[in-house]
Amino acid sequence: MKIVDAAILASTAASLASAATFAPVALDPPLNWVVGSYLWPAEIIAGYNAEVNSTDWNETAWDSYILAQCETYTACTSSITWQGTNSGSTGGRYWYGYVFRGGATNESFYVRDTDVDSNVTLSSAWTIVE
Ligand SMILES: *[C@@H]1O[C@H](CO)[C@@H](O)[C@H](O)[C@H]1NC(C)=O
Ligand SMILES: *[C@@H]1O[C@H](CO)[C@@H](O)[C@H](O)[C@H]1NC(C)=O
Ligand SMILES: *[C@@H]1O[C@H](CO)[C@@H](O)[C@H](O)[C@H]1NC(C)=O
Ligand SMILES: *[C@@H]1O[C@H](CO)[C@@H](O)[C@H](O)[C@H]1NC(C)=O
Repeated sequence: MKIVDAAILASTAASLASAATFAPVALDPPLNWVVGSYLWPAEIIAGYNAEVNSTDWNETAWDSYILAQCETYTACTSSITWQGTNSGSTGGRYWYGYVFRGGATNESFYVRDTDVDSNVTLSSAWTIVE
């Protein structure tokens, strides 16, 4: 019994030691922020997208999903999500999400996309707390 308890304590301690803490990046409205040149493209770990349709995702669920993807990478230090219009021939609204290495971020790491055709909305970013 003592051996089992020790093993559980050791594994709990190890998972606490490796769990990074993330906090929302304060972004001023309007929320048309995309990734700035420090992170893009050098620090991208992975990118994700999903068609915007009635049931699959909402803003909070997509944002949580992308942050969860970030947390699966030891090197991940920030994430961003937004909704935008696909500039390709098929068009349509998509959720976009990217996860990055490169350290903690603040609003200065992001740039506004004011292109009417991109129509970026609902931007949300997370940064590692160092
Ligand atoms: C939403 O889009 C995804 C990806 O194209 C598709 O798999 C899914 O069936 C769509 N859901 C609805 C409710 O249209
Ligand atoms: C977003 O989706 C999640 C998971 O499906 C759900 O729990 C939540 O209520 C939804 N939020 C809104 C604002 O619709
Ligand atoms: C944002 O981050 C940069 C780089 O770490 C730093 O120089 C700057 O002071 C930060 N800005 C704010 C408002 O914290
Ligand atoms: C931008 O997208 C939003 C959300 O789909 C939509 O309500 C709005 O009409 C769009 N604006 C433009 C200029 O296309």
